Formats: sequence, structure tokens, C-alpha cells
Amino acid sequence: MYITPQEINRAVRILETGGLVAFPTETVYGLGADATNVDAVKKIFAVKGRPEKHPLIVHIADANSVAKWTDEFPEAAHRLAARFWPGPLTMVLKRSKAVPDAVTGGQDTVALRVPGHPVALALLKAFGGGVAAPSANRFGKVSPTTAQHVYDDLGKDVDLVLDGGPCAVGIESTIIDLSGPEPAILRPGGVTKEEIDATLGVSVPVVKSGGKVKVPGQMPTHYAPKAQVVLAKPEELVEKANRFRAQGKTVVILTNALPEKPPIGIETIMLPVSLAELARGLYEALREVDRRRFQAAVVCVPPSAGLGLAVVDRLEKAAGEE
Ligand code: TXA
Ligand code: MG
Repeated sequence: MYITPQEINRAVRILETGGLVAFPTETVYGLGADATNVDAVKKIFAVKGRPEKHPLIVHIADANSVAKWTDEFPEAAHRLAARFWPGPLTMVLKRSKAVPDAVTGGQDTVALRVPGHPVALALLKAFGGGVAAPSANRFGKVSPTTAQHVYDDLGKDVDLVLDGGPCAVGIESTIIDLSGPEPAILRPGGVTKEEIDATLGVSVPVVKSGGKVKVPGQMPTHYAPKAQVVLAKPEELVEKANRFRAQGKTVVILTNALPEKPPIGIETIMLPVSLAELARGLYEALREVDRRRFQAAVVCVPPSAGLGLAVVDRLEKAAGEE
């Protein structure tokens, strides 16, 4: 879990020679390539099985590095960068000529983020350039929050996995679009809408899917385990679980509070009460459902304020709901 300077150097050499490095961030593990090397970027899409139109986030070492990637860094971007970088916020901006089409999916915008993890920052600093990286999982599956998750998903398809321990935030960055006349949140994540609103002094709308499908995280059944997932209010947990049982399916309940009449013969995975801990452990809990080979999971949904907005978003994706 301790990364040596030698390992960082090895990772830099792999990036420089067009290879793929999985690295920890505070949100989830990323699958990184040199953002200016088109062949390397194409490898990311091949390994993930991700459609090529879906753009990647370019990770940079600090806000001073934005000029290479965007010609337009508006006042709102300055304020957000000062407040949240390094951290779980991605900004979509007008791209510069330096950004290859392979990274942006041919769009005229680029997504930029300074991740808040010492290993990611050490790598970016030593590399000196931008690292294009999606989450280090196969397309449509649950994002990895430990190095082991990356090995489990991608195995030998990645040249090096830097193990920085479990991710502290546990769900992906918030994506805010600053390329248009008004800001819009494209994906709720580790920075809350409330924090963004307070920083910009306006209420920034959260653009729900169905609009311009710029974000593949906005397609149903993203972040999905193999098991069928349904969401429930606390009082619906037992009834929904019993429905699966009546169909002969093995089922587990995921909740932070046991129902008043604990169901007999239905297994439970306890979720943390605090939203921050729930976010941190969410993908691991979904992976556990598959590891224990449950065919169905009934998940108690938290209130959707603060970090809850992102947690509910990911749970809805896991359930294939919109
Ligand atoms: O926390 C995170 O954001 C993690 C870590 C590794 O940084 N990365 C991540 O990447 O979640 P990925 O590829 O799984 O999701 C990135 C999202 C995609 O939904 C993509 O569509 C969106 O960012 N995106 C990238 N460039 C964009 C652009 N130019 N316009 C709109 N959305 C963009
Ligand atoms: Mg992803």
C-alpha cells in the first residue's frame, strides 16, 4: 500500500511508452494513459469495452496546468478550482487544440480534474502531462475502489496497478459543465450540489438523463452488479425481498436499519448510517452481493440530499431505473 518513488518512476515510463497504468484517486481507481497519445488512449477503450464516442476525463497535477487543455477557463471555473481542487470535481470546458478527438469523443469540450490522492498527484507531477482515465472497470460494471477490484476486473490487461489503498470518497467525481452559458451538473458525485451552489452563489441544475446523452454514466444499468437490484423504502424491504423469494431467487437485503419484524431466512448486508461511509462502501457492498452469488438485492435508499444525491443516482443506475 506504500508506493515507492521507484514505482512512480516505473508508472511514468509505462505512460511515456504508451502503456496503461491503473492508479488510485480519492473517488475510484482510474485506468490511465497519456492523454496526448492516441494509440494509448484507444487501448483504454479496448480494455474497458467502452464505446469510443464516450469521452474521458483528463487528470492534471494542478489548476496551473489547465491552459494546455482549454483556451477558456471562466470565472466560475477559477472559483470551483480554488475551492475543490485537488478533489472530486470534474469540469467540462471548451477544449484546446492539444486535446485529441480520441479523448473527447469528437466533442468540442474536455473534462478536467485534479484528483485529491497523494499517489495520483505524485504520478501526475512526475509524468508532467495529462492522464486520460476512466474508472478502471469493464464498461457498465461497478467501479473499483481498491487495487484488488482492479485486478479482479482487468487482470493482465493493465501494465501496472498502483495500490494506494481503499478510496476515501468511494463514488465518482461530480461533473459540472461550464462550457455553455449556464453551468449544469451532469453527474452528481463526491462534491455536493449544495457545496457547488454555495461556491457559485446560484442554484446549478442537475441535468437528468434523457437530455443530451453526453455522459455514459447516465445510461441505465451502469454501475451494475450481476444480481438484479431493486430499491426500496424501509417499510417495503421485506415485501420486495419476499417477492423474489416467491420466484425462487436467492435474495439479500442491504439496509442501515433492520426492519421492525426481521424477516426469517433472508440474509442482510448492513450498510453504514453516515452518508460519507455509505458512499465509501457502496461499490464494495454491491460487489459482495455478487461474490456471495445472490440473484437479487433489495437496497434501502437514503434521502437524496448532500452526498445522498450521488448515492441514490448510483443505486438507480445499478437498478436500471431512471
Ligand atoms: O471520479 C472520477 O471521475 C473517476 C476517476 C478515475 O477520476 N473517473 C471516472 O471516469 O468516473 P469515467 O470515464 O468512468 O466517467 C467520466 C465521465 C463519463 O461519464 C464521461 O461521459 C464524462 O465523464 N465526460 C468526459 N468528458 C466529457 C465531456 N467533454 N463532456 C461531458 N461529459 C464528459
Ligand atoms: Mg466509470
